[in-house]
Parts: sequence; structure tokens; C-alpha cells
Amino acid sequence: MDDMGYHEALALLDWQIELGADEAILDAPVDRFALEEAAPVASAPPPAAPAVPPAASRPAPPPARAAEGAAKANAVDVVAIAREAAAAAHDLPALKAAMEVFPHCPLSQTATRLVFADGDPAARVMIVGDAPGREEDQQGKPFVGKAGQLLDRMLAAIGLDRAAADPESSVYITNMLPWRPPQNRDPSPEELAMLGPFVRRHIELADPDILVLMGNHACHGLTGQKGITRLRGQWTEVMDRPAIPMFHPAYLLRKPHDKAKAWEDLLSLKARLRKI
Ligand code: URA
Repeated sequence: MDDMGYHEALALLDWQIELGADEAILDAPVDRFALEEAAPVASAPPPAAPAVPPAASRPAPPPARAAEGAAKANAVDVVAIAREAAAAAHDLPALKAAMEVFPHCPLSQTATRLVFADGDPAARVMIVGDAPGREEDQQGKPFVGKAGQLLDRMLAAIGLDRAAADPESSVYITNMLPWRPPQNRDPSPEELAMLGPFVRRHIELADPDILVLMGNHACHGLTGQKGITRLRGQWTEVMDRPAIPMFHPAYLLRKPHDKAKAWEDLLSLKARLRKI
């Protein structure tokens, strides 16, 4: 490190950010080389395995296994708790407050802040994405990074704008997960199940005419179906309203040749808005 120049060090940091290591989780850095050196080295050979004692004198199950059994018996049903908390929220500020204090999702510990929504809750179109990324986590708003900027351009192409004052041309945007998963990993099935009741209540309270399921996780989380490549552009129903799955803008940034299909879907959305 001593000989490393400024530009080389900066390039290394950029590389780490590209890989997703873009935030400090702890207050102080951990020198893992020092930890390795300090680790105790086994000197004596491991003791020989004891002969199996007769059943009568065999000890009770080890405490770890007993504790596991007890934990299973006492396991809290976090999905049911989330459902109750979401149902008790009678407006959007109350829903946001309930999510802020929901203690069962470990993502709330690693994320910087809750990312609830952006745009106009009265908009006819509600977009549900996957999960916040780094910029969203920092700003507390969904879709504000590169993918979000592409989303804004896509919406502008059909006359929609999250900042519009008029609900006819505005949109309302949220995500399946309100907290950023570490290193932008995919949402786990447990997280989607646990936070699903909050998204559904969010949809109920905002009550949009049309839902846009932006990406695989939103599509799977709200329709139960996987495979955005096959499902995109096919209108379906979610919570008694029309919903259209679409390619996620982050995917379109990686595969720009699929933008033509996204354009088809945007035109389909525009036509549907005229009809209802
Ligand atoms: N991707 C999403 O799905 N949501 C965001 O808010 C940002 C990126």
C-alpha cells in the first residue's frame, strides 16, 4: 500500500464499488490480516473420539440442538406480524410509521434508511420495483440512481413524470423491499414474504388504476409468477386492478437491445390509461 499512488488507490476503490462493496458497515475498519496473525494455532492433536456409550448412559441432546428445538416451538410468525401491522395502518403516513418501527427484518439494521415512496400517491399509475440500491439508500427515495434516471426517461416518453402536479400525468413509485439489501444482492424469498403485506397495503391505500411491476422480484412478489422475459408486456390482475410486468431499467442498462420491447410495453401502458 505504501508505494501505491493516488490514482491507483482511487482505481482500486472504484473497482470495489463496482463489485458492490460500497459502504462501511462498521464504525472502524477491521484489519483482517492482523486477525489472522492473532488467531490461536492448534498445537496438541485432537483427542481421540470416545467409544459410543450405551444408550442408557448417553447424555441429553446438546444444548445447541435443544435450543434450536425450543426456538422452532417459539418461532414468531413474522409474516403474520407484518400483516397485522400493515392492516392497522389506515393511511400512508401510518403505513410508513409502521414500517419504520417493524423490528423483524434484518435489512433495517444494515440499510441507512427506509425508502418508502416517491411521486404522487394520487397518481393513476403505481410502479413497484425490487429494492433500493446505493443512491436510493442514501437519499431515501426509490429509483434515483442510474436505473431511476432511465425510468424517468422511459416515463417521459409516454408523458408521465413523477414530479407532475397532476395525477393524470404523475406516477407513484415504491419497491418490494423498503430497505437496501447489502451489496445490492437479490431480495430473499423470506424478505419478500415478510415485507409483502406492507407492499399490498401500500397498493390498497394508494389505490392506483394501474400497476407496473418493474422487474422479476416485483412480478414474482405480486403475481406469484417468475420469468420476466416471458411475462413482460402481458397484462394481468393484481389486487383487482390491471398490472403489467416490465423489464427493469437496470436490466435495460445492461441489455440495451431489449429497449424496443420496453417501448412496446410503455405504449401498451399508455393505451390502457386512455381506455380506463
Ligand atoms: N432498483 C429498484 O428496483 N428500485 C430502486 O429503488 C432502485 C433500483
